Amino acid sequence: MKHIYKQGTNESAPVLVLLHGTGGTENDLLPLAEIVSPESSVISIRGNVLENGMPRYFRRLAEGVFDIEDLIFRTKELNDFLDQAAAEYGFDRSNLVAIGYSNGANIAGSLLFHFEGSLKGAILHHPMVPLRGVKLPDLSGVPVFIAAGENDPICVPQETEDLNKLLSDAGADVSIHWERFGHRLTASEVDAAAAWYQSHFVAQP
Ligand code: MLT
Repeated sequence: MKHIYKQGTNESAPVLVLLHGTGGTENDLLPLAEIVSPESSVISIRGNVLENGMPRYFRRLAEGVFDIEDLIFRTKELNDFLDQAAAEYGFDRSNLVAIGYSNGANIAGSLLFHFEGSLKGAILHHPMVPLRGVKLPDLSGVPVFIAAGENDPICVPQETEDLNKLLSDAGADVSIHWERFGHRLTASEVDAAAAWYQSHFVAQP
């Protein structure tokens, strides 16, 4: 998959996996990585699917209606890519924290739904429930930060509550940060994600 890899200064810090929104590229979320964990290595990946020229991580049939067969196929493709990238760049495959926005948050959620140990933690900006009716793997000890909009017309609050319940029932430790800026990825929610990351992944002196 097309991607950018940036070696960090602290090899034991989690590697950040950046996953952009619909129409984005692997450049979009690099500034977020600098705010959340500047010492981390970063792998930022472009979605392999094009919708009218806009990169995405999986196909959809309409706004909010996902092509589930493609979602499952693409989730495996991304998981396999992370395995290969870990071998190629020499990072610890079991030490990955995703940062995803919108469509990127949805594929990150799908990794959590399908592959045990695929992510050590996740920051999901405006995610939806990727798919329903599947048994999730054991997510005990996996912290997940969700930033959501009370007035988000795409990821409505009920989706956030449903996603929280599905992840929590599988053992994940979910924190939700609510704002009122619709579907926008705001600076204040990135700051909240950075504070959450500090408290979950940065060892206290
Ligand atoms: C999606 O995955 O389709 C998102 O939730 C909405 C979007 O990316 O526009």
